[in-house]
Amino acid sequence: MNKIQSKIKPIIFEENKVLILDQRLLPFEKKYLEITSYKEVINAIKSMAIRGAPLIGIIAGYGMALGAQESIVGAYCNTPLQEQLKIIADEIKNSRPTAINLKWVVDLILNDINNLKEPDEIINTIKQRAIWIHEDDANRCQKIGENGTKLIPQNAKILTICNTGSLATGGIGTAFGVILASHLEGKNIKVFASETRPRQQGARLTTFECIENGIDCTLIADTACGYLMQKKEIDLVITGADRIASNGDSANKIGTYQLAILAKEHNIPFYIAAPLSTFDLKIKSGDEIPIEERNEKEVKEINEKLICQKEVKVKNPAFDITPAKYITGIITEKDILKGNYKDEIQKVFNAVSVA
Ligand code: MRU
Repeated sequence: MNKIQSKIKPIIFEENKVLILDQRLLPFEKKYLEITSYKEVINAIKSMAIRGAPLIGIIAGYGMALGAQESIVGAYCNTPLQEQLKIIADEIKNSRPTAINLKWVVDLILNDINNLKEPDEIINTIKQRAIWIHEDDANRCQKIGENGTKLIPQNAKILTICNTGSLATGGIGTAFGVILASHLEGKNIKVFASETRPRQQGARLTTFECIENGIDCTLIADTACGYLMQKKEIDLVITGADRIASNGDSANKIGTYQLAILAKEHNIPFYIAAPLSTFDLKIKSGDEIPIEERNEKEVKEINEKLICQKEVKVKNPAFDITPAKYITGIITEKDILKGNYKDEIQKVFNAVSVA
């Protein structure tokens, strides 16, 4: 399949700054934020101006580059650069806890610069790695799209949650990459986008990406998913993941777990699409994945207006864990993993480290 170009550019890197498309304003306003410091990168991640597991990993790389630049010219120039970068790395890693990508990218960079002494060499190495991570993710998305489309039948009605496209990755997306590749192959697919309360990534971002790419898309309330499955309106479910444990348990946007159970009940395949950079082989199961709890305002307010009394208590987990037993297959850039995930995951990583 020819390389599919993304229509949307959520990050543009320029010499000493990064432009970030402010996703909080989409789909109505396309405004880029000009980011010149690593603290601004952290704010953009925490406030979800930028979001999506691979994409926050990519901006973390550029954040390290900005942080290195600041460290040599700014207030911290008396602290050795390597030490300063370790502090910056920890701050960036802790900005959102669930996706493994922040840690993956930052650790890769720290490892690259471990034995370097010259500030210019350190800064250049970080910049080159950040650019590589961005391009590498685009390549992984392309391959996920190519692999995943084999699972999508002609005329498929596909349910997805959150946003997993160009706005969440460095390329065409993970689950959305499979959708886009299938659309471009002429499969006449129909997408059902679950709105994804409370941040509405499905309603605001996935429908936007479908419209940009000419894909048939219907927005549904999160609460309508079971009904549509029961009425045979859905042929398969496909979602992304923020972290996958070594047994295949997968963390993804809150609401994914219930979709997986509903899919099982209705004999509908439930697929996860994710690059190998999303896997955390250091953990045995989903129990070990930290789940981010976000501000109560996200649930209590819509457009900054209260929807309940102000004393109401709120719980707002941003992700949940889908146990591997509910997952029909995990689509990666290397292969489609099925069956005994523990063995399959180990096999695919063994093959990668040999290659
Ligand atoms: O809170 P968000 O919007 O960052 O959550 C994003 C998701 O849950 C995606 O499904 C996940 O990051 C995989 S996207 C390629």
